[in-house]
Amino acid sequence: MSPTPKILAVLQERRPHQIHFHSIKMKHNSENERLFFSGSMKMADLVDSNSDLLGVLSRMGIRFGFGDGSVEETCSKWGVSTNTFLLICNVYTFDGYTPSTNILKKADVKDIVKYLHQSHSFYMDNALKDLEGSIEKMLEPCSGKQKSIIWTFFRQYREELEKHFDYEEKTVFPYVESVIGHSEKKGFTIGQYKENHSNIEEKLGDLKNIVMKYMPKECDDRLISAVLMNLYGLEKDLEKHTSIEDDILVPLVKRMEEEDGRKE
Ligand SMILES: [Fe+2]
Ligand SMILES: [Fe+2]
Repeated sequence: MSPTPKILAVLQERRPHQIHFHSIKMKHNSENERLFFSGSMKMADLVDSNSDLLGVLSRMGIRFGFGDGSVEETCSKWGVSTNTFLLICNVYTFDGYTPSTNILKKADVKDIVKYLHQSHSFYMDNALKDLEGSIEKMLEPCSGKQKSIIWTFFRQYREELEKHFDYEEKTVFPYVESVIGHSEKKGFTIGQYKENHSNIEEKLGDLKNIVMKYMPKECDDRLISAVLMNLYGLEKDLEKHTSIEDDILVPLVKRMEEEDGRKE
């Protein structure tokens, strides 16, 4: 749902014809990949180089207290495949990173699915709750009508996410498990998933635009910034999540399908 001029007018207490709304879409430069992470580097150095990886650690079940241990040592301590961990960290850190077939072959599909599942729980149980809390604080001085507009956008987005994750959890992941176990599950291929897979982060744009441009003057700027920081963080994380599904999970499962003699 895009914010209509009428909705924007309510937020700004202005007449609809006075509102000019332009949707902004961020584009990422995909030509900045140079060095990639390796198993012999220290885990602390890896995290220090990109703090976004903190979320990856917890979702992969790696706990703090790794001292000067290498990535490989720490992964093995927590029973995580080093290759899979490195692959995910590289996707998170280097925009446009596309792993070679050789690197993909070394990844563990089960670990990838586990990571994606943990991420779904993180988005629903943590990220959206934090966003909701920051919106609630920001909206305190707003009128009932203004509040209800923002909450409608938020609710619609949450429902979209729930639907998207539900499909992956109930249809895609069980299918991947069946491919791993070489058990027949007819009527579905990973190609179908890839074809219909939508970019859930792009849909955050409406909420981001409305919060950035049209909050009434009674709202505290610091609280608006806090909401925006949550939105940008979630958007970035979801973008990487989608890359892991499209550029790692799909080609890996496709190869397994081919090995098993399945066809599109
Ligand atoms: Fe997902
Ligand atoms: Fe997805």
